[in-house]
Amino acid sequence: MAKSVLFICTGNTCRSVMAEYLLRHRARQAGVEVEVRSAGLQAFPGDSATEHALKALAELGIDAAGHRSRPVNPQLLAEADLILAMTARHKEELLRLAPELADRIFLLKEYAEMLAAGQEQEYSLENNYEIRDPFGQSLEAYREARREIDEAVQLLLARGMGGGSRMRIAVGADHGGFQAKGAVVEYLRSKGYEVVDFGTASPDSCDYPDIAQPVCRAVLAGEYDLGILICGTGIGMSIAANRIPGIRAALCGDTFSARMAREHNDANVLCLGGRVLGLGLMLDIIDAYLQGSFLGGRHKTRIEKIEQMN
Ligand code: RB5
Repeated sequence: MAKSVLFICTGNTCRSVMAEYLLRHRARQAGVEVEVRSAGLQAFPGDSATEHALKALAELGIDAAGHRSRPVNPQLLAEADLILAMTARHKEELLRLAPELADRIFLLKEYAEMLAAGQEQEYSLENNYEIRDPFGQSLEAYREARREIDEAVQLLLARGMGGGSRMRIAVGADHGGFQAKGAVVEYLRSKGYEVVDFGTASPDSCDYPDIAQPVCRAVLAGEYDLGILICGTGIGMSIAANRIPGIRAALCGDTFSARMAREHNDANVLCLGGRVLGLGLMLDIIDAYLQGSFLGGRHKTRIEKIEQMN
């Protein structure tokens, strides 16, 4: 796991600020410890983030009002394990300033793609690794930059920031969830998760407890971080999974419940209805579930009480 990430843009009031706050936010949600900083190649010291950058972050519940811009300096560069820039010109300038750090200087999207592909990517203009400067543009332009940065940042986290530890997910379905399972497995792999498909391997009728059981046992054995079970309604899978001591399976049909299932219930298995949910909503629910992280405290006390019920 990279310990210290430095984001670089031009003025340190838009893109690198959004990247800094998004990575810190997503890392906290994922329970990952990382030190995040940002700076600008032509920044004035002490400016706040632009109004639209603050708004775009506030829309995700992130408060960046305390941010103050700073120009990049040799010490900031030397202290970073990973230096991620927004455009090819930023990268060139960084390589000119600190050629000895070339092995840790990348474009944010280039590095995210590199981790996803598991190999070095050749930089070329066609690869479109740049995140364009929204400065002086509409809030919509800032939202687009935020979306691109957030996607890359989540990919970095899912791939252990290049440190090798990816979240491992066990996925299983009966015939009622078979079709959705294929799309879910593909989606999760595209986002960089390590996924194992526990079947069923065909749309032929089968019994959901036969799938729920091995998925849950593998999660309890620590072979996987989380499980996802899909049947027609999700009900049979959740009933079967919750019979196994130590499993907290949450049947979710909306994103709020999915996030709460992690934050409050520390649910180690997510159950979904393949005949209930459209694929778009199902993937959003999965994202919300995977991005949530247990809040502990009073919720831990409650879970301990559930464990004592066995
Ligand atoms: C199978 O027809 C269906 O009963 C199963 O997929 C699931 O919905 C059970 O709860």
